[in-house]
Amino acid sequence: MTEAGVGLEKLLEQVRAGGGVPRHIAIIMDGNGRWAGERALPRFMGHRQGMKSVRRVVTGSLELGVEHLTLYAFSKENWSRPPEEIGALMRLLSEYVERDKEELAEKGVRVRVIGDRSSLSPAALRAVESIEGTTAAGGTLALNLAISYGSRDEILGAARILAGRCLAGEMALDDISETSFASALYTAGSPDPDLLIRTSGEMRVSNFLLWQIAYSEILVTPVLWPDFGERDLYEAALEYQRRERRFGRVTR
Ligand code: FPP
Repeated sequence: MTEAGVGLEKLLEQVRAGGGVPRHIAIIMDGNGRWAGERALPRFMGHRQGMKSVRRVVTGSLELGVEHLTLYAFSKENWSRPPEEIGALMRLLSEYVERDKEELAEKGVRVRVIGDRSSLSPAALRAVESIEGTTAAGGTLALNLAISYGSRDEILGAARILAGRCLAGEMALDDISETSFASALYTAGSPDPDLLIRTSGEMRVSNFLLWQIAYSEILVTPVLWPDFGERDLYEAALEYQRRERRFGRVTR
């Protein structure tokens, strides 16, 4: 990228001066396995390194003034991975919660876990409730961690909620709108992502936020997730600023 030689502080200044920092950034964190494979390390080490990237993007988002950050940490499909890898990922989640929850709370980060909690182990569920409880008062950055998340599942859940309300006579069919539908999704309360980033070069959306990304700018970077840091986030924000968002309109 053109910003390669620019210092981190300078880059941050450049983004701030550019105006239009994305309010909501969503990230498909991919490439942990490949990162480990390239170093002949077990996959778990890639995930452990990936946790450090999570810290860096949270710090970078706070610096930038991003208001919402949604990270795809574990998909519903990931349950089909080997049990040892699933166990390692869940232990990493608990470790992250224990190590970071107080600091996140101090920085005003409010964590919300989005996904199907019913499939989480009691220990993982305790970790989720603990970080949500500790950070509940945060008002600077809303950090959504997608865990056991699947977008089609989320959409079906919202359809069931609205259908249930209609059947119970609490709402009319005509009240089903984009707004009421969005308010029945896990992400209720967060605006749609302005920018969706996927690392490791894969050109897929992988059942992530299908409803919410209708008009998001999409940026795919070849950088593997464990190598992703503040610089990559700032460069992504600059790329976002260079794009012209039209929301389907003709602008000239
Ligand atoms: C994709 O890489 C990454 C994941 C399935 C897990 C993401 C988890 C973390 C970054 C660490 C824990 C996160 C938190 C929030 C504590 P992959 O294994 O599919 O990589 P590959 O495509 O190269 O095999």
